[in-house]
Amino acid sequence: MEPTPGPAPRAVLFDAYGTLFDVYSVGVVAERVFPGAGERLGILWRDKQIEYTRLTSMSGQTRSFRDCTLAGLRYAARRFDLALDAAAERELMGAYERLAPFAENHAVLVELRRRGIRAGILSNGDPDMLEAVVRHAGFAELLDPVLSVEGSGRFKTDPATYALGTRALGLGADQVLFVSSNCWDAIGATWFGYTTLWINRFGLPLDELGARPTRIGTRLTDVLDFFASERPSP
Ligand code: LAC
Repeated sequence: MEPTPGPAPRAVLFDAYGTLFDVYSVGVVAERVFPGAGERLGILWRDKQIEYTRLTSMSGQTRSFRDCTLAGLRYAARRFDLALDAAAERELMGAYERLAPFAENHAVLVELRRRGIRAGILSNGDPDMLEAVVRHAGFAELLDPVLSVEGSGRFKTDPATYALGTRALGLGADQVLFVSSNCWDAIGATWFGYTTLWINRFGLPLDELGARPTRIGTRLTDVLDFFASERPSP
């Protein structure tokens, strides 16, 4: 890890999908539904979901994250000639509400709580989708606030979405650590002004956008390096 620039942030906001919850864990369900095609379905599904959030957001079209997720699933199934009937669609969309968290994540949230650091979510997800996946993972008591971009009428990386986080916390952007495993999201948050950590779980190159997150790590435990190991005195 690189040295810490500037003072320690006062709160943390996590991206949800891909950062706290493994979007590719749907591949297990997808493999059961479509043997031999689960992994590629899961990958294209995610790519199309995000592409649709950007397309609709840039064109001023209003769609929910669930709409974009369902549309991405339908596209990916057609692309691979998979017969997505209503039951399969229900099962796969349901799996999105039960995504597996990465192994170390619960312990990191518990440790942030112990250190007295406020930790929340700022995600593209619809409020009810977020509530379900957070509850399923057993994280509900550990995350506050859980913010959806829904209120902005846009998706990340529109600056209006990142502004929801600073407004809710009553802090300046540089006082908040924004954490994402999606490089594009970490860069969008960096452009907005957040202190940022990109969790590069898969050893990917940094996106070629001329911007660099404050730090780059490999696991969620790297969040803890931003904070003293003891509670700040009141
Ligand atoms: C989110 C998606 C983009 O949770 O990962 O915002």
